[in-house]
Amino acid sequence: MKKKIDIPSLVRPNIMDLKPYRSARDDFDSGILLDANENSLGAPFEDTLELNRYPMPYQEELRAKIADFREVNQENVFVGVGSDEAIDLLFRIFCEPGKDRVLITPPTYGMYKVSAAINNVTVDEVLLSEDFQLCVVETLSAVTENTKLIFLCSPNNPTGNSLNTEDILTVADRFDGILVLDEAYIDFSERASFAKDILNRNNLVILQTMSKAFGLAGIRLGVALADPQVIDFMMKVKAPYNVNKLTSKAALRGFNYINVMREKVDQIKSEREKVIHKLNLIPEIQKVYPTDANFLIFKIKDAITIYKKMAELGVVIRYRGNEPHCENCLRLTIGTPQENMRFFEALEKVLED
Ligand SMILES: Cc1ncc(COP(=O)(O)O)c(C=O)c1O
Repeated sequence: MKKKIDIPSLVRPNIMDLKPYRSARDDFDSGILLDANENSLGAPFEDTLELNRYPMPYQEELRAKIADFREVNQENVFVGVGSDEAIDLLFRIFCEPGKDRVLITPPTYGMYKVSAAINNVTVDEVLLSEDFQLCVVETLSAVTENTKLIFLCSPNNPTGNSLNTEDILTVADRFDGILVLDEAYIDFSERASFAKDILNRNNLVILQTMSKAFGLAGIRLGVALADPQVIDFMMKVKAPYNVNKLTSKAALRGFNYINVMREKVDQIKSEREKVIHKLNLIPEIQKVYPTDANFLIFKIKDAITIYKKMAELGVVIRYRGNEPHCENCLRLTIGTPQENMRFFEALEKVLED
């Protein structure tokens, strides 16, 4: 069964009325290009990418590659400066500052709240359960007539676990606003991506990124997958040349090495199992939480002190003890075997003190 909501009725009136900026390259992109006030003499260093010219505003080639990889269509794909750009655009498209609301399910990725604050949008919070699953009934009951977006994150940051598939589907079925499902860590997960569900549900937006499994955080390439109507609004509101040429070149290269990416993901997952095993042998660690991502959280007495002492020894992890249900929790990214060894050496040293 298809889910179809009236997308324009959710969009802010000023965005409905917006006449987007037309960039020089919208009309013609070849020939003698004297239309965009670029420097025709070129970059000051040797350059094979024509960096003196603006990039393609709509990144068709990259979007086609991503569509192929995720088994959707090019018109379902938005690319931006990290998924953080996509998050911000969704606020700007759908949420009237001072009036509309969004719903999040802490503990979860901090950027949803920051983006809401930047856009002066009220955030309602319904905590995940103690085992970090959705409280579906409570979540749906917290929806108001002004709730435009619900953010879910699976695998979830900072907890690492995936949300139950049926729970995500129930929220998607029952919520008549935009359900944003952040799949930043999906390629580490044992669960399938919801990417193809966007073909049957026009209220679902999937966020993905090249920052994690692809190992390309430095290029800042984020992806949103959604119904073409939602993607069109994102294209209309984004900065004209948001994705630069160096980024799209590196991202396209990434897709030539999907097998290598998958091998690295497998290495990280096998290293993750070794780390979990070793953590479980440390008596001071009260709990190692299940994870479906390239990081995990564990509970340890006096976590804040341990976190600080580890940093003094040059091993930087993240204190997450202030998050709900995460008292005394530290978050550890799975590193190389050498980095993980250094982590354990430092932890043992701190625990001996
Ligand atoms: C859940 C989640 N979503 C999105 C991001 C940000 O991704 P990007 O690097 O594409 O902005 C992160 C980064 O840590 C994350 O944990």
